[in-house]
Amino acid sequence: MTQKKNNSSARTGTQIFRDITKDAAALKTAAEIIQSGGLVVFPTETVYGLGANALDAGAVGRIFTAKGRPSDNPLIVHVSGIDQILKAASSLPTAAKLLFEAFSPGPLTIVLPKNEQLPDIVTACLPNVAVRIPSHPAALALLKASGLPIAAPSANRSGRPSPTTFGMALEEMNGRADAIIDGGDCQIGLESTVITIIHNEVRILRPGAVTDQMIVKVLGRPFTISHAKANDSKPQSPGMKYTHYKPKAEVLLCKNLQSAVLDIRFASKSIGIIALKNHAPQIQGTLSVKEFATENDYAKGLYKAFFELDQIGCEIVLAESLEEQGIGKAIMNRLLKASGGSWADKN
Ligand code: TXA
Ligand code: MG
Repeated sequence: MTQKKNNSSARTGTQIFRDITKDAAALKTAAEIIQSGGLVVFPTETVYGLGANALDAGAVGRIFTAKGRPSDNPLIVHVSGIDQILKAASSLPTAAKLLFEAFSPGPLTIVLPKNEQLPDIVTACLPNVAVRIPSHPAALALLKASGLPIAAPSANRSGRPSPTTFGMALEEMNGRADAIIDGGDCQIGLESTVITIIHNEVRILRPGAVTDQMIVKVLGRPFTISHAKANDSKPQSPGMKYTHYKPKAEVLLCKNLQSAVLDIRFASKSIGIIALKNHAPQIQGTLSVKEFATENDYAKGLYKAFFELDQIGCEIVLAESLEEQGIGKAIMNRLLKASGGSWADKN
């Protein structure tokens, strides 16, 4: 069967939409699926999300089922602009407003007091809701056309790397969601920065492309910044206690790739390497290498690299460690989770 360009039905009943920003009929259908309680996978500038009407508890429940997500892990609510935030939150404190004005639409999520209309299932019964305004044109188009706040976690099955390409989103959610919107490759490739603001302290619950330095610049003194630790005994962001971002292969962090690949432990294994350009060893034919010219490219390509190295059956992935600065902080956060903190070359 040949696939129609838009609104085509895949084998499993999941509809595929392309170019929704240019195809009014496809956009209308996608918005109607959200309005009628269905699930739509949509692209954002960070990763693909699995969206449902945030005001419909039944629809949100379907997200948890489709992902196999624990019910105590709350969802981010996406809105189309600052003027829509009170559809999910009960108030917008000044510091949060300043940060949204500086970085939205974009990869910043702020935890705010929850609006009473929002069903408890969205926030896993927490009194706060995480809110974000995505910048991908297809995400904004869907939010505006549906006229609703959209609850959306990353569109992976629980515990797996977030999809950052249409192909990955299809692999994860074909047959589980009602529709998938093709928006190409995600520009940033790592999930949004999640923060909470308590008095004059900004706490970074999950590092992302909006960095601590960028936040400090906007708020200035007297604000201080702190980072939640992944192994906090009582995590402020419930998602932090779950294993995330893990491919099938065993991931090991690595400072010196040259010596690590010569390690006898790896002699009989099929090895994948993820590294900055020219840092991978030149051993022809035995290694599968994913190289990135810049740290931003590393962030953008990390989950796709995990996905592709899994597809070719790598047993071990050696991932080059980076300085925990700028986007490097977010990359290391995801690599530490994917590896469970295991290093190939550090005691
Ligand atoms: O870039 C992103 O943020 C993507 C795209 C789709 O927007 N979404 C995403 O959602 O990464 P998810 O569900 O995979 O991760 C959301 C994180 C989780 O760690 C969750 O625990 C935390 O945000 N979170 C959500 N609501 C929260 C709340 N009310 N308080 C504290 N943390 C919260
Ligand atoms: Mg996720």
